[in-house]
This record gives sequence, C-alpha cells and structure tokens, in this order.
Amino acid sequence: MNLPVIAVDGPSGVGKGTLCRRLAQVLGFHLLDSGSLYRLTALAAERAGVDLDDAAALAAVAAALDVDFASGHDDLVVRLAGEDVTLAIRSEAAGMAASHVAALPAVRAALLQRQRDFLQPPGLVADGRDMGTTVFPHATVKIFLTASAAERARRRYKQLSEKGIDANLAALEKEIAERDERDASRSASPLKAADDAVGIDTDHLDITAVFERARALVRGRI
Ligand code: C5P
Repeated sequence: MNLPVIAVDGPSGVGKGTLCRRLAQVLGFHLLDSGSLYRLTALAAERAGVDLDDAAALAAVAAALDVDFASGHDDLVVRLAGEDVTLAIRSEAAGMAASHVAALPAVRAALLQRQRDFLQPPGLVADGRDMGTTVFPHATVKIFLTASAAERARRRYKQLSEKGIDANLAALEKEIAERDERDASRSASPLKAADDAVGIDTDHLDITAVFERARALVRGRI
C-alpha cells in the first residue's frame, strides 16, 4: 500500500515545524521532525563524550538512539533514554552541533530507516532538509519553504523569547547564515528543493497564509 507523505523541506527557522504540526493535526497524520534526530544524535554524543568529528562513533550513537516522541501540549515531547530533552535540543548550540553531525554521510545513513519507519497509516507529514529528495523521494506532495536569513532570525528570536530562552538577534542571523551554508554545501543530502517540489516564499506571508497554500496543494492529492 502506498501511504501518503507530505514532504516539507527548507532552511532553518523558515516555519516548517509550525506548518508541519498544523498539517499533521488537520489531516490526522503522523509527524516526523527529522531535525530532532540530528539534534538528539549531537546531544547523545556530547553526553557520551564522543568527539563531533568521529564519524564512526557518531554513526554508532545515531543507530543506538534511545528516543521517544510523545504529543505534548503544543509541541512534541522528546525523551532521550527516558529524560525529557524537549528544551535542551532546541537551543541554537544544539542546532549548530546537529548541523555538524548531519554533514556526515555515516550519520545520515544510520538515521535513514528510522525516519522511514515514521510512515504509518494513515500517512505522514515529514519536516526536514532532504525529505523530498532522499528520505521520501516518492512523496505525494513536496513543498520547499524559503525566507530570507534576516526574516528567519526575527522569527527564531520571537520563538525563543516566548519559550524564555535567551537570544541575540544579530548572533542568530549570523548563525542561521552559517548553518544554511553548511547545510547547502555538504555533499551528503544537501539542502535543496526536489525537482518536483512546489516552492513557497514565506517572507511576506504569515503562518495562516502559508498553511492555506500548503493545504491547497494537498487538497485533491490526498
Ligand atoms: O530542522 P532543525 O533546525 O531542527 O535541524 C537541525 C539541523 O539538522 C539542521 O541545521 C541540519 O543541519 C540538520 N538536518 C538535516 N537533515 C534533515 C533535518 C535536519 O541535515 N532532514
């Protein structure tokens, strides 16, 4: 049976997470936040004293991740070996560490099947960088979100502030640009739109407008 997949890719801070949560909720689909797996790998490695340049050891950490995702109030609750790390993996430092480990092909390979296993009836909304190109190349609908680094930094700042996490706007913009560069220039599954993805530039759209466009793309196909 071919289960429906909505693949949503794009750079960090573009609003994929919010869009994907809404789509999954409205459609009653499962949700894959693939970035959290890279964040968890980096966190688990740090805790185990594994060097962020040791590809083989990092791949072993990725393969052995003891992780549990549960629906929380307005976010997924993420547990690593039983410990609630929902907030810990959301820091900018965790995002930077994630983008380091995500550049390693061995780590990506170790996480591939785990991501595909999220596809269960009635269907999946998959959030990431390579959902439409590598993980789910046959996705039913592929969406690629974009926004300028300045706009994404503003949104991230607001999001972090609301969660009570300290942030600096200029530093955020610099980090976002660095992360984009690393994600787009790596050889293993670089951040790039699939040929058959539909692009949505979100710079001047609020989340409701982005959601409506995505919903229109999904309608009739699922
Ligand atoms: O989406 P999020 O910001 O949580 O992802 C953290 C990092 O994980 C990204 O900067 C990217 O380097 C990496 N990532 C990836 N492939 C994915 C999802 C995330 O390389 N599918």
